[in-house]
Amino acid sequence: MAMSAPTSPHSFLLQNPNRHHLPTTKPISLHPSPRPTKPISITCLASVQVHDRPAAAAQDRVFNFAAGPAILPESVLRKAESELYNWRGSGMSVMEMSHRGKEFLSIIQKAESDLRSLLSIPSDYAVLFLQGGATTQFAAIPLNLCTQSDPVDFVVTGSWGDKAFKEASKYCKPTLIWSGKSEKYTKIPCFDDLEQNPHAKYLHICANETIHGVEFKNYPTPKNGLMVADMSSNFCSKPVDVSKFGLIYAGAQKNVGPSGVTIVIIRKDLIGNAQEITPVMLDYKIHADNNSLYNTPPCYGIYMCGLVFEDLLAQGGLVEVEKKNVKKAKILYDAIDESKGFYRCPVEKSVRSLMNVPFTLEKAELEAEFVKEAAKEKMVQLKGHRSVGGMRASIYNAMPLAGVEKLVAFMKDFQARHA
Ligand SMILES: Cc1ncc(COP(=O)(O)O)c(C=O)c1O
Repeated sequence: MAMSAPTSPHSFLLQNPNRHHLPTTKPISLHPSPRPTKPISITCLASVQVHDRPAAAAQDRVFNFAAGPAILPESVLRKAESELYNWRGSGMSVMEMSHRGKEFLSIIQKAESDLRSLLSIPSDYAVLFLQGGATTQFAAIPLNLCTQSDPVDFVVTGSWGDKAFKEASKYCKPTLIWSGKSEKYTKIPCFDDLEQNPHAKYLHICANETIHGVEFKNYPTPKNGLMVADMSSNFCSKPVDVSKFGLIYAGAQKNVGPSGVTIVIIRKDLIGNAQEITPVMLDYKIHADNNSLYNTPPCYGIYMCGLVFEDLLAQGGLVEVEKKNVKKAKILYDAIDESKGFYRCPVEKSVRSLMNVPFTLEKAELEAEFVKEAAKEKMVQLKGHRSVGGMRASIYNAMPLAGVEKLVAFMKDFQARHA
């Protein structure tokens, strides 16, 4: 009886879509029916490039203190790994799916609904999954919320707020009502002292300055009630009362996913007034009317965000997540403060970030050695941002307590050896 034998790894997979392990040069015995009098033995001579790969071992991973792209939860990576090749019996990877197919629609809808649960997003707010990073939002926000002559107030507590301010000045008339630049961005102003323009369209803040490690613990009240916040680096790190904001935006690549996804949460009545010059890709109405599917969205990134949202919900939601973040940050700041000046965090204590912990060494000449030795101990990306120097440990949601404890133990040991 004529049997068609697989002649290449590719044809083998086409015929055996659920077999991940390709045949080697071992003979394959085929038992056609009706039962043959003699088994046929066929040797597959195709050279096989895909090998069984042992699951990546947890001990091979480092503690990654990068500011973003950043550490992701191990359970999420494992789940994505298990679904990479064939997503839930669809026969495809998420990367191969049509963004208009029922499989991907279920992914994006679940991601949105889980994010809504996590942040208790009111129904009069739209959730948009966009591209272009938070940097694109620096332009999109004034283009959508202002005319060219509208005033806007900015409180600038670090480099990202400053960039947002500069970009906005191309599309509206922003005023810097407070800047922490002269004090090297280590503070947040007293809200009572802010001289807000009563006609400002909105008040813009960066809720957590990733480079300088300055975080708003509560928020000023904008004169016209409209606050806009860049939450890129503390998004989903703690509960937030969304109803206090007109618009929240965040790049995903710090706390909730890979780079390539930007999330905008916007009060629906603010949508639909974009300036005429607004590119179609920056017009919130286009994206809201099309449920973030006007053009091809960053499908795999949105899928990963969805897995992270599921994971955060499984942890008990953002109240529980915040408790863990407070505990991790306390251990690290305590170690810095108790080092008798060997380590120093320049940020005023009351506004220190739970997510990004910048610190310097009293003996600055030891900083390169610190980073090098830490990397040898599998703690990487501890160098501070090039614009400020020193060190920075980003301890986002996905950084386990064990990672912070290991860093603190290393810091104490380093101090004992170099003090
Ligand atoms: C607070 C904040 N805003 C904006 C950005 C810019 O984000 P993107 O690179 O996604 O445009 C960053 C990037 O690190 C950031 O930390």
